Amino acid sequence: RKKVTLGSLQSLYKKGEPITVMTAHDFPSAHVADAAGMDVILVGDSLAMVALGMADTSEVTVEDMLLHCRSVARATRAAFTVGDLPMGSYEISPEQALETAIRFVKHGRVQSIKLEGGKEMAPTIAKLTQAGIPVLAHVGLTPQRQNSLGGFRVQGKTSKSAMRVLEDALAVQEAGCFGMVLEAVPAEIASIITQKLSVPTIGIGAGNRCSGQVLVQVDMSGYFPPGRFIPKFVKQYGNVWAESLRAIESYRDEVKSRQYPAREHIYPIPKEELEAFAK
Ligand code: KIV
Ligand code: NA
Repeated sequence: RKKVTLGSLQSLYKKGEPITVMTAHDFPSAHVADAAGMDVILVGDSLAMVALGMADTSEVTVEDMLLHCRSVARATRAAFTVGDLPMGSYEISPEQALETAIRFVKHGRVQSIKLEGGKEMAPTIAKLTQAGIPVLAHVGLTPQRQNSLGGFRVQGKTSKSAMRVLEDALAVQEAGCFGMVLEAVPAEIASIITQKLSVPTIGIGAGNRCSGQVLVQVDMSGYFPPGRFIPKFVKQYGNVWAESLRAIESYRDEVKSRQYPAREHIYPIPKEELEAFAK
């Protein structure tokens, strides 16, 4: 498979072919996403929950993100990589954002970064883009701002609020982002916004008229115990948890019953050597 570049993402967008994006948080999750032909692998700050067991994304640090970005980068052959700037690492000034983004490229080994926010982030997006760091913007529901949004709420459900999402999308496009995640927006609004733009929208909870889609790998592959809350927009394509549980339970049972290790799992020794040793 050929290495995905900004240029090849642009040509997918021009052809109207949906861009596939998947999160990954470590070497195996990136390896499998790359093998499955994902165009883009995103090291999302959702790793706070799915890989580190935190309650939300507010606790995750730049150092945490860089460690995970590096492991993802080592596994990624073809996909274009994006690292998510965590809360607190880019909002203070465009300079702070550029410093953090440079660390992501140098020490996280990712090819681009993502940051949340609309109009107010335009100068920051321009700064990073001018420094040669491609930026994936993120508008609509921006989970890092859950406290001021009053939780994880669908955005753009009124004409006024939809207009704000559109204004944000136009502003981040104008600032030079190569695309934007559009999260938790009614499908019709996402479709209209996508049509008004000249850069791709990567939808999550935003219907099938976006220029591409992204899901959190642990959610879509079902690598979580039964009963965990999953947002309405997630489709669970597999049940990795059930398969992993089955495998580990079989191992447990076979160890307890001495069925494992069997003959084929042990190292032989010549009979005479054994006899000499056992004497
Ligand atoms: O952190 C994340 O995984 C994300 C995607 C869901 C877009 O931001
Ligand atoms: Na994120």
